[in-house]
Amino acid sequence: KSNTVAKTLGGKLYFGSATDNPELSDATYVAKLGDNTLFGQITPGNSMKWDSTEPSRGVFTFTNGDTVTSLAKKNGQLIRGHTCVWYNQLAGWVTSGNFNASTLTSILQTHCSTLVSHWAGQIYSWDVVNEPFNDDGTVRSFVFSLAGGTVPNLNYITTALVAARAADPKAKLYINDYNIDSAGAKSTAMQNLVKSLKAAGTPIDGIGIQGHLIVGQVPSKAALIANYQAFTALGVEIAITELDIRMTLPETPALRAQQQTDYNTVVSACKAVTGCVGVTIWDYTDKYSWVPGVFSGQGAALPWDNNLVIKPAYDGIIAGFTN
Ligand code: G3I
Repeated sequence: KSNTVAKTLGGKLYFGSATDNPELSDATYVAKLGDNTLFGQITPGNSMKWDSTEPSRGVFTFTNGDTVTSLAKKNGQLIRGHTCVWYNQLAGWVTSGNFNASTLTSILQTHCSTLVSHWAGQIYSWDVVNEPFNDDGTVRSFVFSLAGGTVPNLNYITTALVAARAADPKAKLYINDYNIDSAGAKSTAMQNLVKSLKAAGTPIDGIGIQGHLIVGQVPSKAALIANYQAFTALGVEIAITELDIRMTLPETPALRAQQQTDYNTVVSACKAVTGCVGVTIWDYTDKYSWVPGVFSGQGAALPWDNNLVIKPAYDGIIAGFTN
C-alpha cells in the first residue's frame, strides 16, 4: 500500500492526497481516502484558501476546512495546510479595496495569523505562500506584491511567514510553486528567495514542489534529484505537494505505461533525496481531478481511474518507494 511503502521502504513521512469537500458525500471515495495505509496525509484542495476562509473582511469561516481536518485526524493522517496567501482564489474584497500598503500588511497579518491559529497544533506543514513567481522567475504581480508600489516585490512573504510562525510554532512553513521540478529560472528564483529569507532570519522550513506534470515530459530522475538537492542544500526540507501527470485523452495502454514510468521517476527521485519528506497527489482519482476542467482534452492524470480502480501509475509509485 502506497503510504505503508513510503514510510517503511521509502524512508518518507507520508504518501498523501488532496481532497475537497464536495467529494466527501461519495462514500466509496471517502472509504479509500480514509485508508491510512494508502494515504498518510491529506491536503484540503480548496477549503483553507482565502476566498473560502475570509470571504469578507474579518469574517472567518472554517467549517469546510474543519470537516477535512477532522476526517484526517480521525483516520490518523497528517495534514498539510493550503494556503495563507495566493494570487488566485483571493477574496474579491482584498483586490478591489484600494487599500494602502500598511493596511494590506495588516490585512495579510490578520488573515495568516487567524487561519494558522485556528488549526494550530494540528497541521504538519503549511503552504504559507503559494506560487510567488512567474515562469521566467520574475515576481508575480498581484495586490500583495504590489503593495505601495508599481514594481512587484517579495516583502509580503516575510509578513506571512512571521505571522504563521507566531500562530503555530510547530507547523513547518513552506513556500509552494509549480514548474520548479528541475533547474531553470523559476527554480533559481526560489533558491534565491529562500537564501535571502534565511539570511534575514525569517522563518522558512520547506519548499513545496507542486509537480503538475505531463506524461512523457517529466524531467529525468537525475535532473529532478539535482534540483531537489539544490533546495535541501539551503537547509530546508522539500515535499512533492500536488503531483499529477496528465495526458492528452483518450487514455491508451502506451500512455498508461509511460505514466507509470513518469510517476516512478518522480517518486524515486524523492526517495533518493533525504530531505524530501513526502509525496502528495492532487486528489487520488481521475473522477475528481482539476485537470480536465482547465486543460481541455487532457486528463487521466492520477493513479486511480474514474471508477477508483488503480492504474499502472500506482505500480510506478510503489516501485518508486521500493527500489
Ligand atoms: O466554489 C465555487 C462554486 O460556488 C461554484 O458553483 C462552482 C462552479 O464552477 O465553482 C466553485 O469554485 C471552484 C473551486 O475550485 C471550488 O470547487 C472554481 O470554479 C474552480 O476554478 C476551483 O478550482 C480549483 C483551482 O485550484 C483554482 O485555481 C481546484 O479545485 C483546485 O484543485 C486547484 O488547486 C490548485 C492549487 O490550489 C495550487 N496549485 C495548482 C492547483 C491546480 O490548479
